[in-house]
Order: sequence, then structure tokens, then C-alpha cells
Amino acid sequence: MATLDLLDVNKSFGAVKVLHDVTIQMADGEFLVLVGPSGCGKSTLMNIIAGLEEPTGGSLRLDDQDITRLGPADRNISMVFQSYALYPNMTVEKNIEFPLAMRKVPKAQRAERVRSVAALLHIEHLLDRKPRQLSGGQRQRVAIGRALAREPKLYLFDEPLSNLDAQLRLDMRTELKKLHQRLRATIVYVTHDQIEAMTLATRIAVMKGGIIQQLGTPYEIYNRPANTFVASFMGSPRMNLAKVQVARGDAGWQLTLDGAQGNKAIIEVPAAQVDLSAHVGQEVLMGLRAEAICLSHDRGEAGPLRCAARARVEVIEPTGSDTLVVLQIGGVEFTARLEPDAELRIGQDVDLFLDLSKLVCFDLKTDARIGA
Ligand SMILES: Nc1ncnc2c1ncn2[C@@H]1O[C@H](COP(=O)(O)OP(=O)(O)OP(=O)(O)O)[C@@H](O)[C@H]1O
Ligand SMILES: [Mg+2]
Repeated sequence: MATLDLLDVNKSFGAVKVLHDVTIQMADGEFLVLVGPSGCGKSTLMNIIAGLEEPTGGSLRLDDQDITRLGPADRNISMVFQSYALYPNMTVEKNIEFPLAMRKVPKAQRAERVRSVAALLHIEHLLDRKPRQLSGGQRQRVAIGRALAREPKLYLFDEPLSNLDAQLRLDMRTELKKLHQRLRATIVYVTHDQIEAMTLATRIAVMKGGIIQQLGTPYEIYNRPANTFVASFMGSPRMNLAKVQVARGDAGWQLTLDGAQGNKAIIEVPAAQVDLSAHVGQEVLMGLRAEAICLSHDRGEAGPLRCAARARVEVIEPTGSDTLVVLQIGGVEFTARLEPDAELRIGQDVDLFLDLSKLVCFDLKTDARIGA
């Protein structure tokens, strides 16, 4: 177990700069998840941490040792690659054991480690097989097992569950979470799966174009996104973002939605929720998650943080566990996540309330979140 400090890490491939001043301090036992669109530099950062790529600038410390110029074999880091490779001529058992043998771990201890990771990953019955006799998901579990057999200072996982079917992926996600809870290992993990990021991470780093957009707990990333990119990237459905005109109201702010065909709606926001004093008379983007839009009969009386609104139903998408409904409020489209048994018709006018405790606002020009 270890702490990891990345300080102003930069990387260019020729003239193309793919990482810009990446600074991350990881505490011992942290589970950091890197997310971001394809090509944003996640694997490049992982390769730099592993020692497979040299940074163009900046430094890395593992447990207060400067590892910037150390070779991968000297870093005591274990990595599962995006495209993992097993030794084709070795059995599963030998594949898992190999890194231990390389490090001259005594035979009895090796056998014990192999047994314990095989049990953990439910691959005990596959130990005598060769990789070609395994399914993709089984191979991926062996690759994870090989990484886990060692007890390095740091584990790096680059999309380790990408080849698994949905059910196995879910099971493995739970296994990884248990594993982290038990080992208290320090882990950097890349995924495209939002739920995986939210459920596994102690902190999430959201990247775009080689720049960290926000580094925070899953709660902060989801509820207090630093900018509109983070707001729309994390969460499914995307956070509703709508342009509103700001005026002073009785106890705070009046946000006016000015939609299609002369429709308007006014949302009264208490001053304590967001400070928009610097934006009175201007337009801002308001952000509201789909689950913050509720049918008014769902949950009790309207209070100061529950603004009543009238909406017209446009599209109904049942997902099973809940129903996504596209509706117009003041002529502006919003997506709401409603109860699965909500009885709605296309074109129907419904009474809603907006849970303003979840409201955030963004600057129209800089895209940054405003009002604290
Ligand atoms: N060896 C290389 N030479 C030149 N460019 C590279 C090299 N490796 C990566 N790149 C470029 O660097 C950028 C970041 O790539 P990287 O593989 O880190 O992205 P990623 O975030 O892991 O994407 P994905 O989600 O698709 O795996 C991309 O534009 C890629 O084309
Ligand atoms: Mg990648």
C-alpha cells in the first residue's frame, strides 16, 4: 500500500500534447477512477504511472520515493492493461504464478497466493487450462488474478472489465469493491462505465483533452460538477441544462425559462441555495438532474426548495426500474426520472415540483459552476 503523487505531469507525442499539468495526490488506500471521452489521455497517464512511457515534464512519487525515472520493473506496481495478454503456453495457474516466480517468492507461498486469488475470482476450476481454452471473460479474470497475486504498492487497472458480459461485469464490480475493502489497496482504475466509476471510486478524476476537469468524491462530481462538461459527462440521463434569465425575487432569485412559442416559466430559488447576485439581469445555465423533477403527488407538500411547475409530456421511456419522461417546462425540454407506475400520456399536462436543493448554475461563457 502506498501514496501516489503526480505533480504537473505533461506528455507530448511529437507536437501533440496529450497531458497538461496533471496533478493528483492519492492517499494510502484510495480508489481513484479516471474517466473521460476516448482519446483524452487516460491510458497514457496509466502508462506513465506504470513506467511504460516517460513523461515530457513533471514528476511522480510513490510513497515519497521519486519514481519518475525508474523502470517499470523497479516500481512495485501491478497493472491490468486495456488489452491484457496472457502467456498462451502456460496454464492459468502458471500465468497467475509467473510474476511471483519472477520475484523468487518461495513455492509454497506461491501456491497459496494462486489458490486465494483463484477462489476470489471464481476460477479455481480453470487452473489447469490454457488461455485458448477460456472465454474472453474468463481470460480477463485470469489477467486480474495475475495482477492481484502480487501485493504491490499500487494496482493499475485500465478498463479491466470491458470484455465481460453485463452480469459478470456486475459481479466483478462487486468483487473488486469487496477486494478493495479487504486489502485497502491503493488503486488507479480507468473505466467508461459511469456506474462502475460511481460505485468503486473513493475519488473520481474527470479528464477532457488531457486536462483534469474535476477531481472529487463521486458525490461532489455528481452533485457539484465543476463545469458543464463534468455535469453532462457524468450521469445518465445527462443533467438537464437550460438557459434562464436571472432576476431578484422575494426571498432569492427568479429564474425565467423562456422557451418555444412564447412559453415561459418562473422558478423561485431561495437565496441560500445559490448566490446569483453577480448575475442579476443576465442569463445563466441552470442544471437540474432528472431525479430532481418529481410528480407533485410523489412526496408531500411544496416547501421553499420545492418549486411547483406545470409541464407537458412529450416522450415516455420506461426503463423497468423507473420511467424517463421528456417534458416541456416553460417550453424548454427537460428529462425527468419518474416512478415506473406513473400514469402518463403523451401531450398530457402534469403538475410537477422541482427539487431545488439539487439545483446548480453555470456561467454561460466560461461553463464553470457559479454561486458556490
Ligand atoms: N504512442 C503514441 N504516439 C502518438 N500518439 C499517441 C500515442 N499513444 C497515444 N497517443 C494519442 O494520445 C491521445 C491519448 O490516448 P490514450 O490512449 O491515452 O487515450 P484514452 O483516454 O486511454 O482513450 P480510450 O478511452 O479510447 O482508451 C490520443 O489522441 C492518442 O491518439
Ligand atoms: Mg485507453
